[in-house]
Amino acid sequence: MNRFTFFDALRIFGGILLLNCLCSYWFTSSTTWNYDGKYLNIKYFMNLFQSRINLTMEELSKYNGSNSKLPIYLAINGSVFDVSSSPEIYGPGKSYNKLTGKDCARIFVTGCFMKPDEYTYDLRGLDEKEVEADLPAWIEYFQQHRKYWYVGTVQHDDSSLPRYPPSPCEHLKFPGMNVH
Ligand SMILES: *[C@@H]1O[C@H](CO)[C@@H](O)[C@H](O)[C@H]1NC(C)=O
Ligand SMILES: *[C@@H]1O[C@H](CO)[C@@H](O)[C@H](O)[C@H]1NC(C)=O
Ligand SMILES: *[C@@H]1O[C@H](CO)[C@@H](O)[C@H](O)[C@H]1NC(C)=O
Repeated sequence: MNRFTFFDALRIFGGILLLNCLCSYWFTSSTTWNYDGKYLNIKYFMNLFQSRINLTMEELSKYNGSNSKLPIYLAINGSVFDVSSSPEIYGPGKSYNKLTGKDCARIFVTGCFMKPDEYTYDLRGLDEKEVEADLPAWIEYFQQHRKYWYVGTVQHDDSSLPRYPPSPCEHLKFPGMNVH
């Protein structure tokens, strides 16, 4: 009659999990061994089961943190990333809020934050080698970041571009890749 049931297994599993959390708490004062990456983020988890989004630039502009019910997105050269986990950086009124709700690939290359027309995906006139070196690195940065993730694409509308690209500006590079 001593059959091992599903509930016994569940109890044992629960016990091990609890013990693990207690051990972790004992050693690290956190129940997850100090792990705080995105794999424990329920929103990231849900995102894995959703289909990739494909926004127009106008749709993307709503995701700038002004509507607290929507996530905060930024885009680089067509790839859209969810940066909602860092409202203290990307939220309304915060230092990098201007990068959200749009594709400002250009500014990731030039770093010219003070120049409003740099907030565009328009890469015309930039040094190609610099673009090739910087953009993939930034895209990877957001893809790999422990708090951010890729959600899909934004369709560029080249008919909205001005006739000439922004005038050259003095490159003011981001102060290193680990500023966040
Ligand atoms: C996004 O939608 C546009 C228009 O419907 C389409 O042309 C484009 O191929 C789509 N892009 C992706 C990556 O699905
Ligand atoms: C954010 O987007 C909303 C809706 O598109 C717009 O009304 C608002 O001005 C934007 N806020 C900023 C700071 O750009
Ligand atoms: C930027 O996007 C364009 C169009 O999708 C693509 O052809 C180009 O290779 C991308 N550039 C970089 C540096 O990722």
